[in-house]
Amino acid sequence: MATSKKTDLLAQPKAVEIEQYLRSRLKPYRYAHVLSVQDVAIDLAERYKANSQKINLAALLHDCAKWMSDLELYEAAASYGIQLDEFERQNPSLLHAIVSAALAAAHFDVSDPEILSAIRVHTAGSGAMTLTDKILYVADFSEPKRLHAESDLVREVAYQDLTRAVFETSRYKIAHLLTKGVVIHPNTIAAYNSTLREINESTAHAGAPLAAS
Ligand SMILES: [Fe+2]
Ligand SMILES: [Fe+2]
Repeated sequence: MATSKKTDLLAQPKAVEIEQYLRSRLKPYRYAHVLSVQDVAIDLAERYKANSQKINLAALLHDCAKWMSDLELYEAAASYGIQLDEFERQNPSLLHAIVSAALAAAHFDVSDPEILSAIRVHTAGSGAMTLTDKILYVADFSEPKRLHAESDLVREVAYQDLTRAVFETSRYKIAHLLTKGVVIHPNTIAAYNSTLREINESTAHAGAPLAAS
């Protein structure tokens, strides 16, 4: 995206207000991660002609509850009346995404379902991701401050084929969770399956044989 357009997005009053909140609450490395996600997400929004204003807010707010302790996340979820599934009850790293969406709505008056959905699914993914969901999910995994080698690979793929980047992200996440021997949220499996299906369908339309499913 042209630098001036990006600068305009960053200077919007709502974006400035959110940035001040994040800077005062998040640890410096987490704040730097958010700004890096914002940068990649805005570039991807330009590449895929998505709504860059919505992407900007979703990226800025995606980890806005990340300063909370596990206990505070559970308390916040209860205070917002969020019904947790069994995976979210066991895994606070999934919980921060759901609470961040609720906080974005309650504290920053964000009501756009597209923005709130992208924040909510940015960690686990889902089987029916919108363009905005996909951009934030991929930007969060692949921003250049991430230290794992897969982030660079996904970032490269992201500018060529966003659906494949979502597929690769969910594949890496599943492989990582299998290595750790922990539960995997069904939404992550659904993100993997649905994007593999999309890739196979587009390959079939191009006349090539289907990949194994
Ligand atoms: Fe996150
Ligand atoms: Fe993040």
